[in-house]
Amino acid sequence: MRAQVVIIGAGPAGLMLGRLLELAGVEAIILERRSADYVLGRIRAGVLEQGTIDLMDRAEAGARMHQEGLIHHGIELSFDGDRQRLDFSSLIGRHVMVYGQTEVTRDLMAVRQAPIVYEAENVEPHDFDGDAPYVTYDRDGVTHRIDCAYIAGCDGYHGVSRKSVPASALKTFERVYPFGWLGILVDQPPVGDELIYAHHARGFALCSQRSPSRSRYYVQVPLDEKIENWSDTRFWDELRTRLNPDTAEALQTGPSIEKSIAPLRSFVAEPLRFGRLLLAGDAAHIVPPTGAKGLNLAMSDVEALAEALIEATKERSHAGIDAYSAKVLDRIWKAERFSWWMTSLLHTFPETGPFGRRIQRAEFDYLRSSLAAQQSLAENYTGLPG
Ligand code: APR
Ligand code: PHB
Repeated sequence: MRAQVVIIGAGPAGLMLGRLLELAGVEAIILERRSADYVLGRIRAGVLEQGTIDLMDRAEAGARMHQEGLIHHGIELSFDGDRQRLDFSSLIGRHVMVYGQTEVTRDLMAVRQAPIVYEAENVEPHDFDGDAPYVTYDRDGVTHRIDCAYIAGCDGYHGVSRKSVPASALKTFERVYPFGWLGILVDQPPVGDELIYAHHARGFALCSQRSPSRSRYYVQVPLDEKIENWSDTRFWDELRTRLNPDTAEALQTGPSIEKSIAPLRSFVAEPLRFGRLLLAGDAAHIVPPTGAKGLNLAMSDVEALAEALIEATKERSHAGIDAYSAKVLDRIWKAERFSWWMTSLLHTFPETGPFGRRIQRAEFDYLRSSLAAQQSLAENYTGLPG
């Protein structure tokens, strides 16, 4: 088999890249280790920046998003129960849209014309340091080989692409946080119109939502916490404790329809190009979910990567491929900084002690009193320019 580009991974990054290439007439094959149902079963964040909304439109996948997505003009921060609303629209004239990543994935799957190879096992990129790379994979007991011009590694943090690069050619930067987020999904109306990010001495909490009748809530838990120890009742009690009393009172609870614990990590690999292999999305970087940047960053990576690949395959110019890594890393590090900062402000860090909490309180009070600080948060949250 032959294709101009092989894309490894059919998460949002791989699907969006595949679609942008398809629309430009560049032939790409997508190889995904899991089944389509498995991919759609993953519950992840759901805040879209304007750049992501625009890209969904460019991919001709935006119709349902515009119908069902909820425009949010701001967020609320809460610190030991003291509330501060940040109105993005009045601060910087921008907004975000709440629309689940699962739905983004579903819409991108639906618009793709060419098939996706699901349940591709043992996917392996080869010879990407030369001019004739190829990818092998097994399906139904048969080994296949696809020769190509470029390989796009969109296979997430645990994928094979980044691992195929010799360690000496790669520099990685990492911070693992000593806690995770316990999240539940529930068919109850959200407690507020907007997202609420709350700091409390017992830990961080987040009130998020998927639709007017479906809510997503999180509490910070120690890394070694076991999901079995968290009945729904315990979760709701803990969440209420961490919220402002009025918010706690208004919370509508119910049986969880999904419950899971996710660790928090900051991670960047550099560079993002090795010969004819290019990394994008979670394969290249991870942000803690506090700033809701993961999906948006993946989308801005593949927007740049699609442009570079189209230029390389249609115009035979390597300039975009050569510039790709430096171009996207600039934005990636700014999103890493913001996600780390939001995480640092809002979580409890046992090791920083009472001094650390006072500094967090001072940061919150500064935010409350400074228009400049609020604008800084607003421009980062709604998305820095590409
Ligand atoms: N071969 C083929 N596919 C693979 C392999 C492999 N060896 N390893 C992983 N994959 C697939 C995964 O099954 C997954 O479907 O690659 C896909 C990667 O998708 P994501 O993990 O969703 O990563 P990405 O598309 O970069 O999207 C980033 O996901 O984790 C969130 O916060 C993050 O929202 C962001 C988004
Ligand atoms: C979510 O809805 O899952 C969500 C929203 C905002 C975040 C993180 C997660 O910052």
